[in-house]
Amino acid sequence: MTDNATPAVQAAPEGPAFRDRMAEVASAVHVVTTIGEKGRAGLTATAVASVSDAPPTVLVCIEGASRTLAAIVANGVFCINTLTGEQQELAEIFASRRGIDGEARFASAGWDALTTGAPALQGAVACFDCRLQGVHQAATHRILIGEVVGMRGRAGSSGLIYRRRRFESV
Ligand SMILES: Cc1cc2nc3c(=O)[nH]c(=O)nc-3n(C[C@H](O)[C@H](O)[C@H](O)COP(=O)(O)O)c2cc1C
Repeated sequence: MTDNATPAVQAAPEGPAFRDRMAEVASAVHVVTTIGEKGRAGLTATAVASVSDAPPTVLVCIEGASRTLAAIVANGVFCINTLTGEQQELAEIFASRRGIDGEARFASAGWDALTTGAPALQGAVACFDCRLQGVHQAATHRILIGEVVGMRGRAGSSGLIYRRRRFESV
């Protein structure tokens, strides 16, 4: 028996129902970048998490067809740039929503480098510069594990979240 305070369990959920449920969960928004022989690449990602602090280790999940995924695997380095509430347009650009690809995605913001050379966003909430430690396949995605070898941050800034298929500044 269920009541209003106890939602029913949805057994064996399929893709659309799973996506709708996940859409209720607020996520921080990041731009994950890399650099190598073929230049700079990057994408917008919310599937980012801290793994360990000894040594500092993070993960990011990227869909198998992403061009940035191929570039990160080839380059062995990536930088997770966590966006402020004012950087929503950058999230749109790096999510392929403005018809801008490759190097041109970097034109509308300031970038420099920390330890690995991967693009670090000026004015980001945080930049976690990583060496790729492992790649694991999971369903349609790859889980990239990175050891954080450089870091930069800003205190007191707003953050950008994605929830209910919309960006919000918090
Ligand atoms: C809010 C938001 C979050 C996203 N999070 C991810 C993510 O965590 N992993 C992923 O593979 N794609 C994610 N995407 C989709 C990629 O940004 C998108 O597929 C992008 O076009 C990939 O570009 P690329 O092929 O140049 O790498 C997200 C898109 C949006 C709008």
